[in-house]
Amino acid sequence: MAWTTLGFPAEFVFGSATAAHQVEGNNCHNDWWAHERLPGTNAKEPSGVACDHYRRYAEDFGLLRALGQRAHRLSLEWSRIEPEEGEIQAAEIDHYRRVLGRLRELGIEPWVTLHHFTLPRWFVAQGAFTQARNVERFRRFVERAAAAYGDLVQRWCTINEPTIHAELGYRWGEFPPRQRDAAVAVEVLCNLFRAHVAAAEALRERARLRPQVGMTLALQAIEPCRPESQADCELASRRDAETNGVSLEALRTGVFRYPERAAVEISGLREASQFVGVQYYTRMRYDVRTGGVAPLDPARPRTQMGWEVYPEGFGPLLRRAAATGLPVYVTENGIACDDDRLRVRFIADHLAVVDEVRRAGADVRGYFYWSAMDNFEWNEGFRPKFGLIAVDRTTLTRAPRPSAYFFGEIADTHRLTREMVDTYTR
Ligand code: BGC
Repeated sequence: MAWTTLGFPAEFVFGSATAAHQVEGNNCHNDWWAHERLPGTNAKEPSGVACDHYRRYAEDFGLLRALGQRAHRLSLEWSRIEPEEGEIQAAEIDHYRRVLGRLRELGIEPWVTLHHFTLPRWFVAQGAFTQARNVERFRRFVERAAAAYGDLVQRWCTINEPTIHAELGYRWGEFPPRQRDAAVAVEVLCNLFRAHVAAAEALRERARLRPQVGMTLALQAIEPCRPESQADCELASRRDAETNGVSLEALRTGVFRYPERAAVEISGLREASQFVGVQYYTRMRYDVRTGGVAPLDPARPRTQMGWEVYPEGFGPLLRRAAATGLPVYVTENGIACDDDRLRVRFIADHLAVVDEVRRAGADVRGYFYWSAMDNFEWNEGFRPKFGLIAVDRTTLTRAPRPSAYFFGEIADTHRLTREMVDTYTR
């Protein structure tokens, strides 16, 4: 790596992210809670109390502020606010007002996600996002959120990683409801774009502060295993379209165009967003001989998730996101590892890419590390350690890792130097 010092403008946003079900604990009215307990489930362990963040949020936010962070991305748990259809829990509405108010008091800007994988069980019983008519039910929830928090929140992320929710839940059978039906997955994905539009409209109508709305996309570097094989290239290009291209194009043009499917024009989609969130973790290589993902390159570092560390793939995706014409925020980027020095290098290497694409003209305005603290990593349970802050599984004690101070120094000074990387990896 050639750089020695990177500088970011004062308005560049640095923060970290979490999601309700992964940190709060006892989210017992959603589909994941049920999935974690089903006989024969593929979930390694239940979420249980998670990080008990539901009760410890004030202490956690105090720690983030002490660590130099001025922005925090978190999600509202719909199933707490509306555990049964129409039964709105005033106490839970108030809870999130206290949560968001606490962030504001500390001078930490809240970035609020409205749908981060989990859904109320009653909504799933009605078909969730497999049914276009259910978008209206989601809109009603967003209207309530906008009315309740629209004076505290300006940054709203509507749908987190629509392709992951659709593909893992409905195509590959990994996430609840564990279906394996590619056509249903495409319907869900399309409806999530409709839900994004509905949410953006509800926010514009009801929120007091002028809302800035975006969708946060899981973008992956996708390459053929053998670049000389036309069949591998075709497979990779198809997977690239499904994983990255369809969503980016939908935001750019307002048309949902899935390979081999009729194009669907989604009214209001082009106007719905004020930014696009990019969430980048890794690269996948495709090989027709296995019909899918190729084995990892053994020469490259691998995370606890079994993912390859591949900062080289980040720049092209940031540029593609910027080509939507929307300002880009990196709303997630992170690594699960035991050796915290890998995290420091991971952050530095990915911020170097952000700096490079910015200097080449891409409008990237912020970076959120995933995750603020070790948490419930969906089917993988608590083993992967993504956190800047370690959470002891027995006592739930929080302990910032060196990378938390490293990231805090970047957030504070808007500078990153080679010496800082050396100091924190010693
Ligand atoms: C999700 C997070 C998840 C992270 C690491 C993203 O797919 O938004 O909920 O924990 O990646 O897997």
